[in-house]
Amino acid sequence: MSSAVSSSRSSASSIAPPSSSSMPSGGTSSIPSGVKVIEGVELNIRLLAGQKIYTGNENCKICHGENGQGTTLGTRLVNCASCSSWDKLQKVISDTMPTPNTCTGECANAVTDWVWSKINGWPLTSDGKGIRLATGDKKLGDDTQRIKSYESIVADYKRLFGKVPASLAASGSTFGSPVAYWYKNPEVGAVALNVLLNAAVEACGDEVMPNLVRAELEASCNTWATRFWLRPATAEERESCVMTALDSAVNLPVKQRAIFTCASMLISLPALTF
Ligand code: HEC
Repeated sequence: MSSAVSSSRSSASSIAPPSSSSMPSGGTSSIPSGVKVIEGVELNIRLLAGQKIYTGNENCKICHGENGQGTTLGTRLVNCASCSSWDKLQKVISDTMPTPNTCTGECANAVTDWVWSKINGWPLTSDGKGIRLATGDKKLGDDTQRIKSYESIVADYKRLFGKVPASLAASGSTFGSPVAYWYKNPEVGAVALNVLLNAAVEACGDEVMPNLVRAELEASCNTWATRFWLRPATAEERESCVMTALDSAVNLPVKQRAIFTCASMLISLPALTF
């Protein structure tokens, strides 16, 4: 596998890089001619080496966090100051991270790909670099970091319910390849969120639901939190769960209200999103 990574890199680097003027910092970059956004298997191969370095022993992840959210030891890499262009990011990493000239050349290229595409959700391109999307899209990029891959979501359903909701099973293509794809297609992201909600409603609909009385709802809200989130609900979370059923969903038929509440718990925390 590592030979596939390096061969893809060396063929990519033989293509002339775009001039830096075609990549204005912080704005939408048009794709230079002869260069294309890579997706699917090609993208995964390119990211593999970066993942190894980023998450490797005592490496970037320890200080910058699994998803680049930052820790007390290192800054946030989502939308970071050095992220104004792929080249700038590569240079900062190569020159300084974790100490000067420790991760240069292929190492810096690979981990820059990871920070660029996986952490920030921006596309990688066939010239061995990446393009940055418009500033207005950044929030969306942040948000896509919270959605797991289709495969992980399917695995979660199998674990939690012993089966995959039919509506989710039929929707694999809606999700496409992860982050970058969602990022470029906000409307696809919205459809995928809708699929997630429908799947959650379907899964909860097959379960025994509590009656809409406080004591029963409190017990169910506790059970859902422990089961879906793998931790007990705080008092505030439990109250919010109870009120969702008693209050916010009044426009739904009574039975649907409990199902909707269960589904809200299901999609709202780590079971289905990061
Ligand atoms: C020991 C902790 C530590 C490790 C390990 C580490 N970093 Fe950092 N990193 C930092 C700190 C602290 C800063 C802020 C430095 C500064 O502002 O001068 C930083 C800054 C950065 C920046 C610039 C962020 C910005 O705001 O522009 C990037 C990019 C970066 N690190 C990437 C990496 C990558 C990639 C790796 C792994 C190869 C890595 N770091 C490993 C602590 C760490």
